[in-house]
Amino acid sequence: MNSNQSKSFEKNIKWHEISIDRKKLEAMHGHKGMVIWFTGLSGAGKSTLANALNEALHLKGISTYVLDGDNIRHGLCKDLGFSDNDREENIRRIGEVANLFMDAGIVAITAFVSPFKADRDKVRSIIGNNDFIEIYCAADLSVCEKRDTKGLYKKARLGEIKEFTGISSPYEIPINPEISINTGTIGLTDSVKQIIDYLNEKNLISINNNLSQ
Ligand code: ADX
Repeated sequence: MNSNQSKSFEKNIKWHEISIDRKKLEAMHGHKGMVIWFTGLSGAGKSTLANALNEALHLKGISTYVLDGDNIRHGLCKDLGFSDNDREENIRRIGEVANLFMDAGIVAITAFVSPFKADRDKVRSIIGNNDFIEIYCAADLSVCEKRDTKGLYKKARLGEIKEFTGISSPYEIPINPEISINTGTIGLTDSVKQIIDYLNEKNLISINNNLSQ
């Protein structure tokens, strides 16, 4: 479909209001929906940290869901590769899906390399500044490459994987993320604590206490 076709197609589509709306769903969950967006190099610890944060929030009775890059690329985004355009489309889709989770009153936790600032900023503009918490997992390339948990850096250095982030494809460091964690040196427990402290400070996860009237 070209852009003209898609525009005329959109003209014939109308928005349908759903009566059980975000406000009602948030009231049911007892907390706000939001998006906690992890970004960083492969091997920086995004998935591990997303999983640990998910456990911690779950224990507090918060409704959460983790969207993880490697998992999503088995299904929703299995048609996409790692060219700049495919990564852009990957992040666009995840931004929209995360927005739906937020609209359902859920805390969506995402773990994607999401290397391009413009793509992350587009998601931020869809979600809204108040509900988008960008967390930069700042382990640097040398640490990630040394870890090489999936053996992908080795393959990328040998040229067996093309367009690999940090080696043959760029990673644009977040300029002003809500949280930055040096996942190269800070342990998992302290990293989770840093995030929970932030959420508490902003009164984002106190059950039944942060809902707009
Ligand atoms: S993103 O750039 O589009 O945000 P995404 O987070 O979905 O990437 O997927 C990254 C994961 O795919 C990495 O953790 C790694 O396991 C794997 N992967 C495979 N090929 C590449 C590549 N060329 N660049 C980065 N990650 C890759």
